[in-house]
Amino acid sequence: MRGPLYRSFLINDPELVRRVLISEPEHFPKSGIIQDTLGGLLGNSVFVTNGEVWKRQRRIIDPAFEGSAKSSFPAMLSAGEDAVSRLGAGGEVEMEFAASYLAADIIFRTLFSIPITSDIATRTFEAFRTYQRAQPLWNLPGLLRLPRWVPRVTPRPARRAAREIRVLLRELVDTRAAEIEAGTAPDDLATRIMTMVDPDSGERFSIGEMVDQVAIFFLAGHETSASALAWGLYLLADNPDIQDQVAAEVATLPTELTFSDLSRLPMTRDVFRETLRLFPPVPMMVREAAEACEMRGRSVPRGSLAILSPWHLHRHERLWDQPDLFDPSRWATENGKICQRKSFIPFSAGPRVCTGAGFAMAEGVLMLALLVRAFRFETTAEAVPVAHLTVRAKTGIRLRLTPRT
Ligand code: HEM
Repeated sequence: MRGPLYRSFLINDPELVRRVLISEPEHFPKSGIIQDTLGGLLGNSVFVTNGEVWKRQRRIIDPAFEGSAKSSFPAMLSAGEDAVSRLGAGGEVEMEFAASYLAADIIFRTLFSIPITSDIATRTFEAFRTYQRAQPLWNLPGLLRLPRWVPRVTPRPARRAAREIRVLLRELVDTRAAEIEAGTAPDDLATRIMTMVDPDSGERFSIGEMVDQVAIFFLAGHETSASALAWGLYLLADNPDIQDQVAAEVATLPTELTFSDLSRLPMTRDVFRETLRLFPPVPMMVREAAEACEMRGRSVPRGSLAILSPWHLHRHERLWDQPDLFDPSRWATENGKICQRKSFIPFSAGPRVCTGAGFAMAEGVLMLALLVRAFRFETTAEAVPVAHLTVRAKTGIRLRLTPRT
């Protein structure tokens, strides 16, 4: 796309995607548009920073997340079991909301060891919902490359919600800092991140920095997982034969699940992977060319936007066999294996790959398993995808749930 003040390139060739994300990430830093759009909520969190600041943040966050899928498993399981009880007798359910509530519960339990029903968690969740409804996907002046002095207008309700969220998160972080000081802090993700020392500088995150990071863990960690879970259940509802196969696989597991049981759910995992292919929660990522360069014989001026679109790449007709078909068995085929290595980036790739990828895969498979074990899902209407902060359905995802026993 070419405008008077900007050029942008949609990059949809696996080799070029690789170049931007993996082999030359320093030449394609995160675009300032992201900071313009989400800065009010996320401050200087790892999602929006670049260069040395970003490297330092990852040196602290990455080791804290190592093994988090396993260590967070009991918290995920309790949240999933509570969701099954809440859905109780079944009936018609708006699955996007139910999945958001569940994913937020998982994040609160794994980060701060509190369930969503606690007062502060409920208030934070509500404020996030207000923020998501009020915040436009992109900030127009940023997208049009207008000079920095042109104000980046954020709608007032979004600004107010962002302020409220940050006050609540600050309260959670302050309380946790006091507990760490007193030696009474629970062993959860927040404690691990707040006590992790940067091996290079010997420093920890300050309270302010931690608030920024917690804001992105909530946003990136619950919106994305909720989107994937809701679409996964929709796809299963729309494909009853595949749902039966998942139900049969899950029925082989013991009643009391442990982390190692996840490795006995290959079909459920392939369903979740196929959901991430067809409905990648993050449909688009934006980078910026730090220097002028060339791509496929075309010159890319400095400052051009490099748009990477998992949505397009995952449905590329010249790469995937029958790209629009929901077919979890593709991952065992030669084409599926090649595409998984080269053209499948639901969590991005390279040094900026999602820090929560392992966590999210465990969470997605476990939640699908628990929900399909408890209910049969049927569609009530077609769901039409639209891009908000994540891929959502235009009028929600309404499914009919019938208890299996
Ligand atoms: C299905 C679930 C998820 C999906 C599809 C997903 C996808 C992504 C993608 C595509 C990015 C890169 C965005 C970009 O570069 O513009 C990203 C980054 C990130 N994600 Fe996730 N994510 C998921 C779950 C999570 C969870 C559970 C957490 C943490 C609790 C998390 C934390 C982050 C963070 C901190 C970043 C920023 C990394 C950086 O820029 O260095 N995500 N995620």
